[in-house]
Amino acid sequence: MAMTIGILTSGGDAPGMNAAIRAATRAAIAKGHKVIGVRRGYQGLIEGDMYELTARDVSDILHRGGTMLCTARSKEFTTQAGLEKAMQNCKSAGIEALIVIGGDGTYRGALDFSRLGMPCVGIPGTIDNDIVCTEYTIGFDTAQNTALEMLDKLKDTEMSHNRCSVVEVMGRNAGHIGVNVAAATGAIDCLTVEVPYDLDDICHKIIEQKNAGKTHFELIVCEGVVHDDFTSDHIAKYIEQKTGVTSRATVLGHVQRGGAPTCFDRVMALKMGYYAVELLVNGQRNRIVAVKNNKIVDYDIEDALNMQKGYDEKLHSVLRVLSI
Ligand code: F6P
Repeated sequence: MAMTIGILTSGGDAPGMNAAIRAATRAAIAKGHKVIGVRRGYQGLIEGDMYELTARDVSDILHRGGTMLCTARSKEFTTQAGLEKAMQNCKSAGIEALIVIGGDGTYRGALDFSRLGMPCVGIPGTIDNDIVCTEYTIGFDTAQNTALEMLDKLKDTEMSHNRCSVVEVMGRNAGHIGVNVAAATGAIDCLTVEVPYDLDDICHKIIEQKNAGKTHFELIVCEGVVHDDFTSDHIAKYIEQKTGVTSRATVLGHVQRGGAPTCFDRVMALKMGYYAVELLVNGQRNRIVAVKNNKIVDYDIEDALNMQKGYDEKLHSVLRVLSI
């Protein structure tokens, strides 16, 4: 039986979301279903901001960052009134099932909406790679490569000036981008919430290495560890004062969310978008698409939200050993 499937992106945008929209839209159309694109996530659902997507509407987006459907974080969707308005609009548009692309907040919305009776399937899309049920989230690879490219550029200037760069990367409360780029750039360490650190020990290491002839340093700081009284700038000043090495802080910020998705992100987005449609077509409801042991799998939304995510502590300790 032909279905009408709504699709939306919610939360922070991530490179590869467009590739997932394209995959889900075309997979659904190829299987004889109709697709409605919802603009600005759940907020668009509440406001009835939606339109039919054809196979051509999703042309030329595979290689673009951001999301053609735009995205938002909707407070209203966390209220009963918001959920009911959204359901009413879905009924008017004939939407019988919803594919949502985003992070944990998006899934919590999907769980509430599914409890009202709308079948939902989630696709993990966030640069943070912090969704507990999945080894991979769309956008992570592109974001970490963007951060790495910036770090390589910073290395040129810190080397020329014999400085220490303190570089803050995104990741909300997770250090997955941080630990990978710290390892890939040879940083002295990575300050992240998952692993204890001691700034004085790091300063001591810098002094030892400076005395042994090393001239420039990078320290990665994950955004989860900073707050108003402990900013990357404070950290840079502290290091400068303790070690005598001139230090500068750089906050990479939203640049990490943009840009053309890497090949890896495009392929993952294609696989996940296609899989999400297969789930709905096969009568599956309220599932989250995920990666486990490099394979695409799916979980019940509620179970998925209660899982625990690992952190690569081994990589963290290896990068510490190698930064001598
Ligand atoms: O979840 C993606 C992310 O970029 C996080 O890394 C960051 O903490 C947050 O979104 C920033 O959100 P906003 O774009 O709303 O400032």
